[in-house]
Amino acid sequence: FSEFLTDTFQRQHTYLRISLTERCNLRCQYCMPENGVDLTPKDELLSTDEILTLSRLFVKEGVKKIRLTGGEPLVRKDLIQIIEGLNSFRSLGLEAIGITTNAVTLSRKLPQLKQVGLDQINISLDSLIPAKFEFITRRKGYDKVLKGIETAVDLGFHPVKINCVVMRGLNDDEICDFVAFTENRNVDIRFIEYMPFGGNKWNFQKMVSYQQMLDTIRSQFPNLTKIGDKDNDTSKAYKVPGFKGQIGFITSMSEHFCGTCNRLRLTADGNLKVCLHGNAEVSLRDALRNESSEEKMLEIIGAAVKRKKKQHAGMINLSKMTNRPMILIDES
Ligand code: GTP
Ligand code: 5AD
Ligand code: SF4
Repeated sequence: FSEFLTDTFQRQHTYLRISLTERCNLRCQYCMPENGVDLTPKDELLSTDEILTLSRLFVKEGVKKIRLTGGEPLVRKDLIQIIEGLNSFRSLGLEAIGITTNAVTLSRKLPQLKQVGLDQINISLDSLIPAKFEFITRRKGYDKVLKGIETAVDLGFHPVKINCVVMRGLNDDEICDFVAFTENRNVDIRFIEYMPFGGNKWNFQKMVSYQQMLDTIRSQFPNLTKIGDKDNDTSKAYKVPGFKGQIGFITSMSEHFCGTCNRLRLTADGNLKVCLHGNAEVSLRDALRNESSEEKMLEIIGAAVKRKKKQHAGMINLSKMTNRPMILIDES
């Protein structure tokens, strides 16, 4: 495996998450600061060609999975060309192309996305009540998201993962309804512990922990059963016996999973970010635009990967938090 993508704790980074845009058609409270964010000028964002050149380099070094994120990746006009380009890297070793989306415009776009090579889909949905959906996202779109989920299942995506950020006093009363949602649908609902990011007004009281969620679910579904997790999964999987779908918990706050982390991130403005929760960033866009050789690019990437910390500081460093807002890292 590439020495450039191996860190000092022997973690091999086979998974690249690429943010395609800082824009989003929703305004989720936990992601977007109240007054929005300053968007990077277009010419400072990675172009189609730059995204494909960088992806190719990473795949040649051993990246097996690429997930497209945002902002909202579906707002990017060249999305089809990007997926087509990535699909041509399968012969170099790329095994999976995924997208994480809010699914508002997914339903009509998905057949073509699938046709050009998309094979994994994760959808954000934090409420099953339309009015609450609008309150959390500050926009309409609930019916379209549900249609997006249905289309993904019907087109044979498996598993269709649904991400639900649980916030006390906001949607924690819907946890069991979300579990019930898996009874007749082949989906994987993942409950995510609410995380602090720049400008999102996180506080400890609003966070519902893994253990608290389990207690809530077990009070209504006492036969909830632990099932196996895949290597490098962010979530801990469970199932209600007899239900078509499954559930999971992403325990970034109470039980981090940094020990098995295999992820690197590329921001829409071309910075390599070796950890979701770290501020360390290096511009691969600038290196590319300065016509650096492949060797030089790999040196820059390798040096950043070697600086990756063993684990994120989690709750310890909150007062010093200067990380980007989530919309500028990895949402949708
Ligand atoms: P898969 O590729 O299907 O495994 O999905 P994923 O869980 O990696 O990605 P997704 O985009 O669906 O993100 C869901 C949640 O996973 C995010 O809200 C984060 O809470 C968490 N997550 C994703 N990547 C990381 C990471 O690198 N570190 C941490 N701590 N959490 C992450
Ligand atoms: N805490 C937890 N998860 C978050 N996401 C965005 N912001 C936060 C946060 N503050 C989730 C979104 C999306 C995924 C990529 O990240 O719901 O599904
Ligand atoms: Fe990896 Fe950083 Fe996330 Fe830990 S916090 S799992 S090291 S990206």
